[in-house]
Amino acid sequence: MATSAPARSLLPAGDLGGRHIVLGLSGGIACYKAAELCRAMVKAGATVQVVMTDAACQFITPVTMQALSGRPVFSSQWDPREAAGVGNNMAHINLSREADAILVVPASADFLKKLVHGGADDLLSLLCLARPAEAVPLIVAPAMNREMWANPATQRNVAQLKADGVHVLDVGQGDQACGEVGDGRMLEADELLYDLVRFFMPKPLAGQHVLVSAGPTYEAIDPVRGITNLSSGKMGFAIARAAHEAGAEVTLVAGPVALATPRGVRRIDVKSAQNMLMALDIYAHSATVFVSAAAVADWRPAAPSEQKIKKDGSGQVPTLAFTENPDILAGIAASERARSGRLYCVGFAAESHDLLHHAQTKRARKGVPLLVGNIGPATFGQDHNALLLVDEAGVVEFPQADKLSLSRLLVADIAQRLAR
Ligand code: C5P
Repeated sequence: MATSAPARSLLPAGDLGGRHIVLGLSGGIACYKAAELCRAMVKAGATVQVVMTDAACQFITPVTMQALSGRPVFSSQWDPREAAGVGNNMAHINLSREADAILVVPASADFLKKLVHGGADDLLSLLCLARPAEAVPLIVAPAMNREMWANPATQRNVAQLKADGVHVLDVGQGDQACGEVGDGRMLEADELLYDLVRFFMPKPLAGQHVLVSAGPTYEAIDPVRGITNLSSGKMGFAIARAAHEAGAEVTLVAGPVALATPRGVRRIDVKSAQNMLMALDIYAHSATVFVSAAAVADWRPAAPSEQKIKKDGSGQVPTLAFTENPDILAGIAASERARSGRLYCVGFAAESHDLLHHAQTKRARKGVPLLVGNIGPATFGQDHNALLLVDEAGVVEFPQADKLSLSRLLVADIAQRLAR
C-alpha cells in the first residue's frame, strides 16, 4: 500500500543516535518550539540535557522540558544537585564535558549579546563560556522581533559570534508573535532538527553543485487531460536532501509531485519533458554533478488540443498521435561540459525485469559513467527501494532500505568517484 510521505517522515529514527546535546533555552515566546524540538531530538536518538534561563522559565516550565527530555532540567548555577554524575556542585562545567554540542534554542537578542561579551551571570551563559570550544561546538537559533533582528547592534553581535566560531542558524521569515511580519522568527522544530542532523554530517560534496531531476512529467493531451506516470519523486527528493547534507549546493528540477522541498535546496517546478529539458539545460551549465532520477515520459501527444476535446455522442474515440521526447540525460551527457569531465552524470533505470541487463545496456546508450537501476513497480510511491549501481568496472548492490538512507549511500559513493 502506498503511504504519503512529507519530507519530515523521510528522517529515519537514529539520525542523532549516540549524540549528547545540551539544549539551552533563553527567554522568548519561541520556547514552545524548543519543546517540540526536544521531543524530535530524543526520537532521533539523542540524549538531551536541558538548561533554561530564568527568562525561559517564564515562557515554558522546566516540568515540560523534563518530561520531554527524560532528565532533570538545570536553570541555576547555584543548583546543588548532582550534574552529569558529578557531585562537585559545578553544573556549568559538568554539563558540557560530555556534550557533542550546545544548542541554544531560542537565542534571544540579549543572550546573543551576552555570548559576544563573555557574560556569565546565569547557568546557560556560564556553561557556554566554560565549554571546551574545540570539542563542544556552540549552535544558536536566534529568535526575536524583526526590528530587534534588523538592529545594527544585533547584526554586529551576530557577525562577531560567527567570527568567534559560533554556528548561528538562519532566522525564519513571516508572522511574528507580536503581530508584525518580517525576519527574525525562529526556525520551526523540523527545520532546526534538520540543521542539527546536517551539522554532524561529513561534507564530501562541499564546493559541488548537484543538479537533480525528480518525479514524473506531465504531457498534455488538451487543457484538462494529460499523460503521466506513477513516479512519486521521493527518490529524487531524498537524493537532493542527501546531497545538501553532504555540503553541496543543490538544484532540484521537479515534475508535478506533492512533496515538501528539502531544506536548503533550490527547487524548480516543471510539467512536461520539454519544460524539464529547458530548466535542466540552464543549471547544467554550472552544475558539477547531474543525477537524473526523473521518470521522463518517452512520448508526448504530437498535437495537444488547445481546447478540451469533446465527446460528441457518436461513439467515435479520438486518435492520439505521439512524438518522441528528447532524451534529456543523453543530451546533457553528450555536452562539452560532461565530456570534458566537469559534469559527472548519473542516470536511473526503472525496470520491471532483467534489471542488470537493462541497466548495463542503458548506461552505454545514455553515455553516462554511472547508471542506477531499480525495479520501478516495486519502488514507485514507496518509501523504500533497493539500488543496483552499474559502472564500467561492474555492479554494486545497495539492498532494500529507506530512500534517504540509500540516497546518503549513493551520494557518498558519487563523492568518492569525484575524488578519484
Ligand atoms: O530510457 P529510460 O527512460 O529508461 O532512461 C532512464 C534514464 O534516462 C533516467 O535517468 C531518466 O531520468 C532519463 N531520461 C531522460 N529523458 C528521457 C527519458 C529518460 O533524461 N526522455
